[in-house]
This record gives sequence, C-alpha cells and structure tokens, in this order.
Amino acid sequence: MRRVRVPLGKRGYDILIGENLLPGLGAHCSRLRFGKRALVISDKTVARLYGSQVVNGLAEAGFEAAIHAIPAGEQAKSLENVQVCYERCAKHRLERNSFIVALGGGVVGDLAGFVAATYLRGINFVQAPTTLLAQVDSSVGGKVGVNLPAGKNLVGAFYQPKLVLCDIVTLKTMEEREYRSGLAEVIKYGIIYDAKLFGRLEKSMDRLMRREEGILSRVIERSCAIKGEVVRQDETEGGLRAILNFGHTIGHALEAISQYGKYLHGEAIAIGQMAAARLSQMRAGLSASDVRRIKTVFESAGLPTEVVLSGGETRDLLNAMKLDKKVSNGIIKFVLAEKIGKVKFGCEVPEKSVLAALTTAHGRHS
Ligand code: NAD
Ligand code: GLY
Repeated sequence: MRRVRVPLGKRGYDILIGENLLPGLGAHCSRLRFGKRALVISDKTVARLYGSQVVNGLAEAGFEAAIHAIPAGEQAKSLENVQVCYERCAKHRLERNSFIVALGGGVVGDLAGFVAATYLRGINFVQAPTTLLAQVDSSVGGKVGVNLPAGKNLVGAFYQPKLVLCDIVTLKTMEEREYRSGLAEVIKYGIIYDAKLFGRLEKSMDRLMRREEGILSRVIERSCAIKGEVVRQDETEGGLRAILNFGHTIGHALEAISQYGKYLHGEAIAIGQMAAARLSQMRAGLSASDVRRIKTVFESAGLPTEVVLSGGETRDLLNAMKLDKKVSNGIIKFVLAEKIGKVKFGCEVPEKSVLAALTTAHGRHS
C-alpha cells in the first residue's frame, strides 16, 4: 500500500493507495477515532458494485453504518439531492463526531463532501473514490459542492476529508471511455509539474491503458502527491492552485456549449490542454517538439485533441469562457506552459490568440 500525506497541519490527512482496500475502510476509520455512526453516500451503480463491502467492513469494525445511493451521473449533483442526504443523515441520527463516507466518482465525492461540510456545521468525512478522475483529482484538496441550473459547481465549500482511500481494484469495472477521461488529468500533472511523470506516461501508456496495477498505483501516488503539494501551498486558490486548471478554461467552455452531453470532462480538457499548449507555444516559449509530445501522449490515451467549430459555436465558446468562475473583471487568465513540467498562471491572452490556438490544428488561422 502506498501513502501520500496532504500536509495541511491540523487538517492534514493521508491518501492510501492500493489493492483491495475497501473492505478495510472500517479499520482505518477506527484509527481516526470517529463516533459510532456512519452514512455511506454512493451512487446506484457504485453501491451495487461495492456498497456491501464497505458497509460490512464498517460493521465489522464496530460502526453502525447505513448507505444512501443517489442516481448515477452529473445531474444528481444537485441541491435537491443534498436535501435528501440531510434527511438521511437525520434519520440515521448522525452526530457531530459521526462521519460520512463518499463512495464513488467525483459526483458523489463533491456532493457527499458538501453534505459533510454543512450538516451540523460540519462532520467528519472520508473519501473512497472509485473512478480514476476521483482518485487522482477530485477526492484530494477539499473542493466540495453541487451544481445549480445556472452552472456547474456554483455552490460549494473548501472542506478537507480526514482520509482518502483509493482502492485501485475498483478501476477495473470502469467503462473504457470514463477511464480514458481520467487519464487526461494524469497527463495534466505531467505537463504542469513533473516532466519525469510525463516521460513515464509516454513510455508506459500501453500498460496504463491495460490498467496494470503496478504502474497505476505509482501514477496515482505521484498525481496525488502533486495535487497535495499544490494544495498545501495554496489551499483556497489565491494563486498557485490555478495551475490545476491548465486546459480547463477552454475545456469547461466546450462542455458548457455542448450542454454537458457530447464530451466527458476528460475529453473536453484534453482538447482544452492541446489548445493551451498551442497558446503556450505562441506566448510562453513552449517548443514545437513539446507541443508534439503533448499531442502524442493524449492520442496514445485515446483522447481527442481537436475540435472543429462553426463560426457560431466559436462565438459561443468565447462567451462561455467569459462566464468561467476564474474570470475576473471580464479578463480571462490562462495557465501557460514554458516547457513540459513548468507552467505559469494568470497570463492574459488576447481573444485572437485563443481563436488561433483553437483553429491552428486544422489549418484554419483566423
Ligand atoms: P462520476 O462520479 O459521474 O462517475 C462516472 C460514472 O462512472 C458514473 O456513472 C458512476 O456511476 C460510474 N462509476 C464510478 N465508479 C465506478 C466503478 N468503479 N466502476 C464502474 N462504474 C463506476 O464522474 P467522475 O468523472 O468521477 O467525476 C466528475 C465530477 O467530478 C464532476 O462533477 C466534476 O465537477 C467533479 N470534479 C471535482 C473536482 C474537485 O476538486 N472537487 C475535480 C475534478 C472534477
Ligand atoms: N480540480 C481543481 C482543483 O482542485 O483545484
């Protein structure tokens, strides 16, 4: 088993990564000296696959655990489901020292984390992520929240878990497209922070695509360590944490203009990261060979790197970018790469460069 510490002083916590960890979740929770009562929040798909292992493990460790499953999918990340979860917490008589376990992907983690952050003004919270995206990104760092009809993640909090437990065996049951989508976040860590990780991904993508445990656990460990280090330095996104959004400004806008139906998040940010790489070549000195390496690695993970947009769609995309939460005073700031493994943030980029970065790939310069 691998262990990564997120060093946030009193709010610091361990991320445990390994095989067959879920049945032992109860034993780890005992060590954290939580109260007796626990609510596992999951989604219907994940609860069917892994719910009983977790609930039985908690019971064996002496906890009184109940499970509540929301429908699977992004639509469930809503205030309506927060309300249903609060009612479930009350019915199961959770107290201040009780705890909530988020068992599932990023949707469950964000929603259950928000319930934990707010029920009784905050109760203990454990993340048991079951998707690659959740294991390398959303379960770490304390961003929790839900969507509003007006937009994604508009209501939320920073609320750190007490433990993150990544059982990599769960990744075996993920759908292929969802799994690949998670790889886009892993590749991001290589580009923004760690040229050695990027090199390892170039060399070992075939083994990662086969979900081989050895490489998978090393790559998840390194991704979590990078995210933990960035969060240690800037927990509430005053500055540095913005580097985690490399490729996300364009990616989020692409998800929004396609009504969150066409692209999975990882697919949209793969396209966004490629556009950001081209922007970086134009404005931050990223070499043409690094841009080629980035494209090749996304392609080897089976991820899209280009999008063809009509004039109207391009206008919609630019407008959607201006609605991004990270925009201030109408100025869109980008994270740009100087070389693989090193980025800078807060870069103002004129609209015509964004347009060029979106169209260069298929030769339609504006
Ligand atoms: P998800 O939670 O919707 O899971 C994807 C699908 O996979 C779901 O249908 C789910 O039921 C299924 N699934 C989950 N684990 C499975 C398993 N082991 N086997 C089989 N099926 C499984 O999606 P996601 O990609 O994990 O997370 C996306 C969410 O994460 C978004 O809402 C996004 O906003 C959020 N997010 C949050 C942060 C953060 O820092 N808090 C960071 C990135 C993304
Ligand atoms: N996923 C971006 C962040 O946690 O800041």
